[in-house]
Amino acid sequence: MADPILRLEHLAKSYGALNVTQDVCLDVRPGEVHALIGPNGAGKTTLVGEIAGAVRPDAGRIVFAGRDVTHLGVAARARLGLGRVFQVSQVIGGFSARENVMLAALAHQGGPARGGAWRMWRPARADAALAGAAEAALARVGLGARADVPAGALAHGERRALELAMALVQAPKLLLLDEPMAGTGRAEGARLTDLLLGLKGTLPMLLVEHDTRTVFALADRITVLIGGAVAITGAPEAVRANAEVRRAYLGEEEAV
Ligand SMILES: Nc1ncnc2c1ncn2[C@@H]1O[C@H](COP(=O)(O)OP(=O)(O)OP(=O)(O)O)[C@@H](O)[C@H]1O
Ligand SMILES: [Mg+2]
Repeated sequence: MADPILRLEHLAKSYGALNVTQDVCLDVRPGEVHALIGPNGAGKTTLVGEIAGAVRPDAGRIVFAGRDVTHLGVAARARLGLGRVFQVSQVIGGFSARENVMLAALAHQGGPARGGAWRMWRPARADAALAGAAEAALARVGLGARADVPAGALAHGERRALELAMALVQAPKLLLLDEPMAGTGRAEGARLTDLLLGLKGTLPMLLVEHDTRTVFALADRITVLIGGAVAITGAPEAVRANAEVRRAYLGEEEAV
């Protein structure tokens, strides 16, 4: 089998007496959607932070695209192709959807830490190639016809799609998604799930999501995190059938 795009080896992280990540081993294979699920406070967001470089693990190793990135910062990992879906705050409401994606592409090229994106924005705004790349990313998320709309005027679900386009324009080798459906209504959530289904197979994803419908629709494999430790990693059917998982996490949803 091909080498995994991401491999976590015995990652550990504590805050005082609280072991938030306990001996976590996990790999994401090329092309797969790997879902990370677990109860509130299980340590999912912390683990995503450790992968992205925002949270420093106490022990263990992170290998991304064949490189040990354990000691690299967020920007260096992003340049290697670790894509994290932008938080809402990074969307500029007064800029069009196209301009927001162009700015994300520029930030990736110039290194956001150095303020490069802003320095280059004035000439870049007229850059046809950059605009074309942004439009292609918008088309991938179904916003092709909304390129000129100010981001602030987009519906909530469209904004989540825009954030996805902002990550995609950076041509990530792995996409980290922490609750992409959060705050969306049922119809919007279903559209976003369809959108991710359409992207499935074009790039590997590590997806944190509470909506089990979305998780089971998308995931090739699922890792269940309970109390910071991996309870099980397996195919969706195996995870669904696991007694401990049903008790600790899936029980309520399954009973509905
Ligand atoms: N910087 C921090 N300092 C102290 N404790 C923290 C810190 N960050 C997270 N924690 C604690 O670590 C635990 C795991 O938090 P985390 O946000 O990773 O969980 P989660 O699985 O993402 O939860 P949710 O499903 O609610 O998003 C929680 O008990 C949280 O309070
Ligand atoms: Mg979280």
